[in-house]
Amino acid sequence: MEVAIGSDHAGVEQKSKIIALLKESGIEAIDCGCYSADSVDYPDIAEAVAARVLEKCIPGIIICGTGIGISIAANKIPGIRAALCSDPYSAEMARRHNDANVLALGARVLEVPAIREIVSAFLAAEFEGGRHQRRVDKINAIEKKYCVRCC
Ligand code: RB5
Repeated sequence: MEVAIGSDHAGVEQKSKIIALLKESGIEAIDCGCYSADSVDYPDIAEAVAARVLEKCIPGIIICGTGIGISIAANKIPGIRAALCSDPYSAEMARRHNDANVLALGARVLEVPAIREIVSAFLAAEFEGGRHQRRVDKINAIEKKYCVRCC
């Protein structure tokens, strides 16, 4: 299994720890940056991770200070369903019910043990389909409808 992962400067330490956790579980991390504590802009990282997720059909993990900016940016990209989660239950349900393909985390909000649990819950869960597929299809229809418009 492969996972695309990226963070801005606020989450670079947590990103390294998640990559180590993934390795322990035999999961290969595709590190989309950033690579130091020098300031970067989270939309660039969101786009880099989202591109890998869509290209390779793999899950993604994105991290910024709160997880808010990077999840907003990722969710602008058609096909991306990024879920900002701060507990394992939400992370599991994001996969099971929402077919989230990207997990967003707030490095300045969560402690490392919580991050480990959230990541594990996200990656272990699978989309249930059924009535949830109908709802995801509606999300996709909204995306398609507004794709060419702006306000
Ligand atoms: C960077 O200082 C910070 O604004 C960013 O990591 C994130 O929290 C934005 O949503």
